[in-house]
Amino acid sequence: MARILALAGSTRRDSFNKRIVAVAAEAARAAGAEVEVVDLRDYPMPLFDQDAEADFGKPEAARQLKAKMIASDGFLIASPEYNGSITGVLKNAIDWVSRPDEGEARPGLTAFRGKVVTLMSASPGGLGGLRGLAHLRDILSGVGCIVMPQQVAVPASHEQFDDAGTLKSEGTRLRLEALGTSLADFLRRIG
Ligand SMILES: Cc1cc2nc3c(=O)[nH]c(=O)nc-3n(C[C@H](O)[C@H](O)[C@H](O)COP(=O)(O)O)c2cc1C
Repeated sequence: MARILALAGSTRRDSFNKRIVAVAAEAARAAGAEVEVVDLRDYPMPLFDQDAEADFGKPEAARQLKAKMIASDGFLIASPEYNGSITGVLKNAIDWVSRPDEGEARPGLTAFRGKVVTLMSASPGGLGGLRGLAHLRDILSGVGCIVMPQQVAVPASHEQFDDAGTLKSEGTRLRLEALGTSLADFLRRIG
């Protein structure tokens, strides 16, 4: 069974990106994958500092996240766009997780190499965070991930959900579900 880790690049309590990744994650589960959704709020890490790394090693949260990523075949990632790029919280997590551990072959990208990733974003703006996704695609390709061509950027995110946090637009829901389904199907095919 394909194992997928799903996360958003936001720690915000009412994050739109957490909501959309949950929709894709549920569809991947329905398509037969084993899916775990994690919240980066539960993995607090200091800003990466190479001296702190040399003195104290990887923070426990980075160790735990890296272990979950290594145990996964693919990732569903919903990334907010901050100032035209990805959030500091997501980049910081990627930086910590990318660092080699003792006994790990250099350059230590075990958590990323060969992992299949599907991207999505949500933003109150008109482009839905599309510019940030281009950067994230580049970063993840650079560390060895296979980034799927399909992606979804949800604009006007503040108008997309009802009071219960459910997506109002069936079209948007179907597009997000298709991301989860196609990642699960792809992983099964190559499995
Ligand atoms: C520092 C900062 C920079 C932002 N820059 C952008 C941006 O460049 N483009 C955009 O569409 N939204 C931008 N936003 C708005 C975010 O898309 C919005 O806060 C969104 O809700 C964040 O995602 P979340 O709901 O998952 O936390 C920015 C927000 C912050 C806090």
